[in-house]
Amino acid sequence: MHSVNLGLIGGGTVGSGVWTTLQRNGPLLGARLGVEFQISRVAVKSLEKARLVEFPESIVTDNWRSVVEDPAVQVVLELVGGKTVAREIAIRALELGKPVVTANKALLSAFGEELFATAARHGTNLYYEASVAGGIPIIKVIRESMVGNRILQIAGIVNGTCNYILTRMKLEGAEFSTVLRDAQRLGYAEAEPSLDIDGHDAAHKTGILASLAHGFWVRPETIHTEGIREVTPLDIQFADRLGYTIKLLGMVKELTWQTGENRGQRAIQIAVYPALVPNRHVLASVNHAFNAIAVSGDVVGETLYYGRGAGAEPTASSVLSDLADAALDLVHGCRRRVPPFVPHAREANLIPMAEVVSRYYVRLLVLDRPGVFAGVANILARAHIGISSIIQPEGHAGEVVPVILMIHDATNAVMQKVLIEIEQLPMIKSKPVMFRVEPFE
Ligand code: HSE
Repeated sequence: MHSVNLGLIGGGTVGSGVWTTLQRNGPLLGARLGVEFQISRVAVKSLEKARLVEFPESIVTDNWRSVVEDPAVQVVLELVGGKTVAREIAIRALELGKPVVTANKALLSAFGEELFATAARHGTNLYYEASVAGGIPIIKVIRESMVGNRILQIAGIVNGTCNYILTRMKLEGAEFSTVLRDAQRLGYAEAEPSLDIDGHDAAHKTGILASLAHGFWVRPETIHTEGIREVTPLDIQFADRLGYTIKLLGMVKELTWQTGENRGQRAIQIAVYPALVPNRHVLASVNHAFNAIAVSGDVVGETLYYGRGAGAEPTASSVLSDLADAALDLVHGCRRRVPPFVPHAREANLIPMAEVVSRYYVRLLVLDRPGVFAGVANILARAHIGISSIIQPEGHAGEVVPVILMIHDATNAVMQKVLIEIEQLPMIKSKPVMFRVEPFE
């Protein structure tokens, strides 16, 4: 039996989860692979801090360098979170030719290109299954299992906090801020909740998936990102009446440029935004903190992956799967995996959100007076935008009431322009709110 020594860096929720899970399933994993795993060194931030598991004193240190550089450590598990120390750990380990396993999506999003290049230069691998959607094995699916497909679309519910908030808003009519507090209490939310609710965490994950699907590193600043702060219980109710559920989606779509000199050319849209998902589509019924990702390939059609996107054990499940790959690399000397990038793939194909054609749900707050619709309809007609339906709950003349418009296909740029014009009408009482509709046809 071969033995593989691991250096575990990080004693928080994920590090402790990996430790406990390896105690439980290490022998099973080892028997499957013909490898005996041993966590030979552990580095934590502070030796004083109380933690979820007691690491043996003989192997624990607060000096991560001593773990990474220990010649006996063969695989480094970077489980510290954050971007600064985590980057140093990963780079140093890769420079030493040691495979690195990470769960850190923010690190990958910011420094993925550098990390993969360092791994390639030093003939080793960077493994990151746990960085997207926790326990769902999505990296391997896109990178390896769908390697024979052209990836046409990825639609992912990849932020559990937002999904938890939107689910409770729908099921209980609860207010956003109340549910956010519960999500924080339950430990779903990031330390900085804006990372979740403003869509940044989802953008990190969506960028990682998009990179795998399209072969070039996606810089986070190129991802159009919107969060869920503007979604109200009213929107959720109206969407439901229209047959939809609002979800925060990470979207990676292959589409055709519809306007301008690129018209007809292939383009890739990468974005995160709250969208109306038809209730008939399975993503609409992914509730609470669960994640799900629908991936469509030109050969296989639509596939779906569902599970827990966060938490100690789901994350540990993915880390263990990476560990298995890293151990097999070491033991059998095969370090070649399906490469994460395609030579010559370029971000030039990225389409700016302004040029993307979508359908829309628009909420207006109007003074209920004769002529209000005519004003709105005129503006839309001048921009050649069709309305597919209108809902106005019964109110009393002179009151301020919500009006919901479902809008036919228009570019995002045209819609933004039109909404600015509508906002200036005297009977419009607040900034119009717009969400995209994803038809999943
Ligand atoms: N805050 C993240 C989420 C944790 O809510 O999905 C997992 O990345």
